[in-house]
Amino acid sequence: MTANSNKPPSLLIREDWGEGAQEPTHHSLLPTSLRDPASTNVVWHHATVTRARREAQNGHRGAIIWFTGLSGSGKSTLAHAIEEALYQRGCRTFVMDGDNVRQGLCGDLGFSAQDRQENIRRIGEMAKLFMEAGVIVLAAFISPYRADRERIRGMVEPSDFIEIFCDTAIEICEARDVKGIYKKARAGEISEFTGISSRYEVPENPELIVKTGTAELNTCVQQVIDVMMEREIITTANLNHESSKKV
Ligand code: ADX
Repeated sequence: MTANSNKPPSLLIREDWGEGAQEPTHHSLLPTSLRDPASTNVVWHHATVTRARREAQNGHRGAIIWFTGLSGSGKSTLAHAIEEALYQRGCRTFVMDGDNVRQGLCGDLGFSAQDRQENIRRIGEMAKLFMEAGVIVLAAFISPYRADRERIRGMVEPSDFIEIFCDTAIEICEARDVKGIYKKARAGEISEFTGISSRYEVPENPELIVKTGTAELNTCVQQVIDVMMEREIITTANLNHESSKKV
């Protein structure tokens, strides 16, 4: 047993990796406020039911599929459509989205840059736990800052994280305005509104850009499924799976 065995794999810090190790670590990617966590004297408990065993049971890998884009760009619609397609083929999935998570886990957070950073940090940690449980996580959050998205990418293996940019022009989001929030933001009733009074940083190297404003939903679903196949998160065996229970 080494000293490291008490830490979760993601919390091993550079010195722990041995001489010459260069990898950026989860620890080094944490916001400064969390590098000295308030919880001390806690010991990571290693499970006997491992991620690999869960994945073998599920017949697919766990992963984080991260949808980023403006409010109203179609992130949640796409995430739910993919979930439906995967669920019908027997895959274990879960959609997390901003409007839902902000009513519970992140109900104490607003839309300042700091609160958005904390929002995405918590969601990243939650998504990672679900992934460790063998689930395909479909995370749909504006997540406007590149650094926050990159932090989550850095917390997991490269093959575990797929960033999808829902590239819908603000004019289209605003014209749709399903929740009536653009109207409110333009009227000055909502401050720090993404795309209007708060910045959105377009992904520089997403795994996929989907034109959720103009392309058919089914086309976008297929594009995402194709990337998941390339990454071997799911296989043709999953896609050919005839779910007997269409519930
Ligand atoms: S994030 O920026 O921190 O990633 P998140 O995805 O959780 O945002 O929540 C976005 C949702 O909150 C939007 O779809 C919208 O319904 C609502 N919302 C309320 N106020 C704002 C605001 N100021 N900017 C953007 N979205 C807002």
